[in-house]
Order: sequence, then C-alpha cells, then structure tokens
Amino acid sequence: MNYNKKTVTDLDVKGKKVLLRCDFNVPQDKTTHAITDDKRIRAALPTIQYLLDQNAAVIACSHLGKPKGQVKPELTLAPVAQRLSELLGREVIFAADTIGPDAQVKAAALKPGQILLLENLRFDIGEEKNHPEFAKALADMAEIYVSDAFGTVHRAHASTAGVAAYLPAVSGFLIQKELEIMGGALNDPKRPFVAVLGGAKVSDKIGVINNLLEKADTIIIGGGMAYTFKKAQGYAIGTSLLEEDKIGYAKEMIAKAEAKDVKFLLPTDNLCAKEFSKDSEPVLVEGDIPEGLMGMDIGPKTVEDFCTAVKGAGTVVWNGPMGVFEFPAFAEGTRAMAKALAESGAITIVGGGDSAAAVEQLGFADKITHISTGGGASLEFLEGLELPGVACLLDK
Ligand code: 3PG
Repeated sequence: MNYNKKTVTDLDVKGKKVLLRCDFNVPQDKTTHAITDDKRIRAALPTIQYLLDQNAAVIACSHLGKPKGQVKPELTLAPVAQRLSELLGREVIFAADTIGPDAQVKAAALKPGQILLLENLRFDIGEEKNHPEFAKALADMAEIYVSDAFGTVHRAHASTAGVAAYLPAVSGFLIQKELEIMGGALNDPKRPFVAVLGGAKVSDKIGVINNLLEKADTIIIGGGMAYTFKKAQGYAIGTSLLEEDKIGYAKEMIAKAEAKDVKFLLPTDNLCAKEFSKDSEPVLVEGDIPEGLMGMDIGPKTVEDFCTAVKGAGTVVWNGPMGVFEFPAFAEGTRAMAKALAESGAITIVGGGDSAAAVEQLGFADKITHISTGGGASLEFLEGLELPGVACLLDK
C-alpha cells in the first residue's frame, strides 16, 4: 500500500473551512468520566495549531467509545472540548450534535482562526455504517478534509474514509509521522530488525507474525500467547493460556521461521502461579510447566535472552506485554523489556494499547523513538493490511 500521501502542507488551507478528523477516543474514569490520559488530544495539537496559525476555520470531529448509533450522554465529547481548550489556550466551540442543526449553524458561523468540535460521531449510525448521506453532510460543512486520526485509520467509517469522496483529502502531521516511522521500520529497517510480540492471544497476532516473518531478523514471542507456541513444540504448559485451534498455526510459523532463517525466540523459563490473581505466589519453572500451574510472566533466563537480542538490534518493534504486568509480582518481564528498548540505542517503536501503557507506566516513554497512538490501527499496519483511512487520502 502507498504511504506517500499528501499532507496538510500540500494544500492551501488559509482562511478555508477544514474538517479535521481526530482520534479523541480517550480513556475516562468510569464514574466521574474525567479524562485519565490526554495523550491522543496532545498528539493532535501540532496539526490543529498549524491550521489555526494558517487562519483556517477548524471543524474537528471524533468518536468516543462505542455508542453504536445511540446518543449516550456518558460518551459526550464535551470533556474533550474542555481539555482541548485548556491545551490550546483558546475557546473551543462545542456543537451538541454531529450533522444536526446545532453543528450546521455553528459550522456556518465559524470564522477563520476559530475551532469547533462536533459531538461524538458515533451517536449517528451513519458514521460506522459509512452512509454516504452522513459523509456528505459532514463534507458539506467544509472545503478541505484533513485526517489526523491514526488510531482509527483501520476503520472504513464515514468520517475516516467516506468523506474523502466529497473533499480534497490529506493527512495531518500525526498520521504523517506514524506512517513515516512505522513504514520506515517495516520497509527499510536498520538491521538487525527485532520484533517483540506479546499479549494474551495468538489469534490477535496471526497476521502480524506472518507479515513480520517476511521482514524481521528475530521474532520474540512472550505473554500469554507464547504458551500455545510452547505446546506446539511439545512442552507441557500446565493451565497456561492455550488456543488449541492455533497449535497448527504455531507449528507452521515455527517452521516458516526456520525456513527463512529468522530467529524465533520463545520463553525457556516462566514465572507461574496456581491462580490468576495478583496475590498469587510466583513459582519459577524451567521447561515443562506442571499441571496446576499457569505461566504469568517470562522468567529471569528468558528476560536475559530476550533483552540480549534487543540490545544488539538496529530496529525494534514491540507490541504486547511479556506477562501479566498489571500484577506487580508478574511485571518484571515487561519492565525489563521496556528498559531494554529504552537503553538499546536502536530505533524503537511501541505499538499502542497495552505495551504503550506499560512503557508509559514504567517511566520509559521518553526514551522510546515512537509510541504509536494506534492500538488496532498499528496492529493492522504491522500486518501489512490496507488501511481505509490512509488509502482514501490523495497520493503525493
Ligand atoms: C482505538 O481506540 O483503537 C481507536 O480509537 C478505534 O476505536 P474502535 O476500536 O472503537 O474503532
């Protein structure tokens, strides 16, 4: 897929009305609805600031959560408007609907240098269903479409793809940066290229492993999904996570790695527990895991092997924790991996979601080359899939 897309600096946006798709899908406190991490809002600031400096009238829009076409007051974007206004140090006008009368009136009255945020796009079923009428109504408010919602480029929704049929469509600086850094790592990596994959499920990472086997020099597998691979190698795994129907796939991937001369590293020792609980006593097990114990983290020998591979790398891409890092007794594998990336001197890229949260929580974020704002989007990117929110933008 072509990642060489026109950006906001390739069009004259001066004094124009610009529809700007952001990914303001931010985590919120379950009871107070306060925003608990504003990273995605901050990540959109360079493009917003540029547009405002160019005297564009910015009509920003986003989804929040999964309201599935219904107006859910707890998923209003109003707190985002407030946070954005604090970060920009200027008023952010808020529309109480998406393409309804309030949005229409406020968009029409918007002056150059002002910013309006529409209400949660997914309050209208037309967004996720990519209804042309919904996309056209959004497009009719503006003259140019800028997408900066990297976290949502894997969705073919009205505001992420459909709208590009009606307006000149370009990327903002965030999408440009994500594509440049991750695309560079995939297509022309500084070698050795090491991919570190973790997380609970093999099924989430099938496409990623398959694609990375074509590109990486070393693939490291940790987290819950490692146990399906260990089972495929004939080891006992006790009560560890197992996807029985993926054993065949795991065997295939191990064989493919061998055939392609890609190093494929799996845990050789594990910290195990009797129960999945933060209070469980860690038990160190080498090789076969006996019945009644489940793997919860990689063990010290594995930590050493994995970190040695990372230390010698030119490029490292990491997606998915090495163990149950939310339980302190089983966080060491993930912490050590984050530290190894931070100290490696390699180009280091962390896919969004859990591993990004781990790197931030553990205090290594500022030593990582790039932490993607995309969860699902960065995974689909690593799979090499066509991303509708990128494909719809104008080629350079
Ligand atoms: C994300 O949080 O990964 C993006 O905002 C996409 O959200 P979605 O999975 O609800 O489409």
